[in-house]
Amino acid sequence: METEYIKLDRQNPDRDMLKRAAQLLRQGEVVAFPTETVYGLGANALEGSAVKKIFIAKGRPSDNPLIVHISSLNQLPPLVKEIPQAARALMKKYWPGPLTLIFPKSEIIPPEITAGLETVAIRMPEHPVAQALIEYAGVPVAAPSANISGKPSPTSGQHVWQDMQGKVAMVLDSGETRVGVESTVLDITRKPPMILRPGGITYEDLQETLGQVELDQGTGKMKVPRSPGMKYTHYSPAADVFVVTRGPQSFPGKFEKAYRSLSGEGKKVAVLISEETAQQMGDRIHPHYREVLGSRHDLREVAHRLFSAFRNADHQGADIILIEEFSEEGMGAAVMNRMIKAAGNKVIN
Ligand code: TXA
Ligand code: MG
Repeated sequence: METEYIKLDRQNPDRDMLKRAAQLLRQGEVVAFPTETVYGLGANALEGSAVKKIFIAKGRPSDNPLIVHISSLNQLPPLVKEIPQAARALMKKYWPGPLTLIFPKSEIIPPEITAGLETVAIRMPEHPVAQALIEYAGVPVAAPSANISGKPSPTSGQHVWQDMQGKVAMVLDSGETRVGVESTVLDITRKPPMILRPGGITYEDLQETLGQVELDQGTGKMKVPRSPGMKYTHYSPAADVFVVTRGPQSFPGKFEKAYRSLSGEGKKVAVLISEETAQQMGDRIHPHYREVLGSRHDLREVAHRLFSAFRNADHQGADIILIEEFSEEGMGAAVMNRMIKAAGNKVIN
């Protein structure tokens, strides 16, 4: 299939182009588009045959359900059986934004979306291009992240192009995404509500609004996760990822030691580190590739860069990626969740 690649200004996108993209969605085609978290691979959520094309383009297992994206609150009631009380305050505060809520689904949701579950995941993205696209399409848009299944989620139009060229009708490119990790998935059908995937809205934020919120243990320690997608190896670069944890020892010393032992075996090692570690290590090591993710104290910046750093390291031909552990506070929970998954639990203690 020939894939059209269209650049769109984030703030002031070409309306005619957006209408063409919306037309493709209405015709049952797949269109990749930017959101504030990561790029999505969209199709008409009310048409099972269109949704199936997403799974084919991504190579995604059909038992992993999709998020339905809406652009206005009017679109919600027909999609769900009820709107739990807890959802109202959250929608008011965080929609549009990087928060996905799990509702009991209505009959109009095709089975391809929910993989047989009785619930449906819904989010209202804040990105102007995503909003306008959904509005022009006039239908809710099902969209997973626009990567090949198992690869890091795309945070730029170029990432999408690398993965989806020839597989979808159109790619809309509006540059880098702001958040850089996916939305938080929150199950509000449970009491107290439970975070199934940490993401753009933090645990601390949700606790403030809800009073009580639980964190699915599967999100951190790889037990059996309740969000079907979390059981798959995710976000993995081609290189082997190792996370170097902090401990009582001097951190740069520990990181350097890990680097020396891995690179000593003749492997090309990429290092992804904080500004602080980069400064402390100076030029004592000379890795194949090095990327500074941001300050240890600016976890939003680290989240923003993480997936593109994984892709950059792959692009440079690294065999191994050695990455520094960050704090799990705030956005750090999402950062560490994605890092540990990319590493397939390989940590250097
Ligand atoms: O930020 C995001 O959420 C991006 C952008 C494009 O919106 N989308 C995204 O979709 O990350 P995806 O398909 O890559 O991840 C959706 C996650 C998966 O872990 C999936 O298992 C979970 O949401 N999910 C979807 N429906 C669910 C449901 N009914 N119950 C529990 N988990 C669900
Ligand atoms: Mg994904």
